[in-house]
Amino acid sequence: MYRDLASALQGLVAGEPDAIANMANAAALIWETLPEINWAGFYRNVDGELVLGPFQGRPACIRIAFGSGVCGVAAETRQVQRVQDVNAFPGHIACDSASASELVVPIVRDGELIAVLDLDSPRTGRFTEEDETGCIRLAEILAKVL
Ligand code: SME
Repeated sequence: MYRDLASALQGLVAGEPDAIANMANAAALIWETLPEINWAGFYRNVDGELVLGPFQGRPACIRIAFGSGVCGVAAETRQVQRVQDVNAFPGHIACDSASASELVVPIVRDGELIAVLDLDSPRTGRFTEEDETGCIRLAEILAKVL
């Protein structure tokens, strides 16, 4: 499934330099492809603060400080955060009380954090190692076009 997702994403962003358009299509593609997801989208690094970008799902927190919540920790450490139970994650920011697990992948280009890809699920333990590897691949594709 991630192989198809990666090639569909590659096709959608090919030749398009607009970052917002590419994030919007990526969020829509992920949203319609992955099962058991209640939020899929981006937070952009705007002058050292995460600011809400294109997404699918319920309205979400607009600004997140580096180091704060799952997204902020991913941004600060530049490490993928795969959280099986968000309620056990210190400082987790509950934008949607339905979210039970979360996967956040930093998008880095030339040593600079551009954005994070954030996926939420209403099922505890939804995200596997396969999801992590697959989403890292998606982030690599996006790093070139954001
Ligand atoms: N739960 C996230 C905030 C973003 S929403 O899930 C869309 C966090 O703790 O960083």
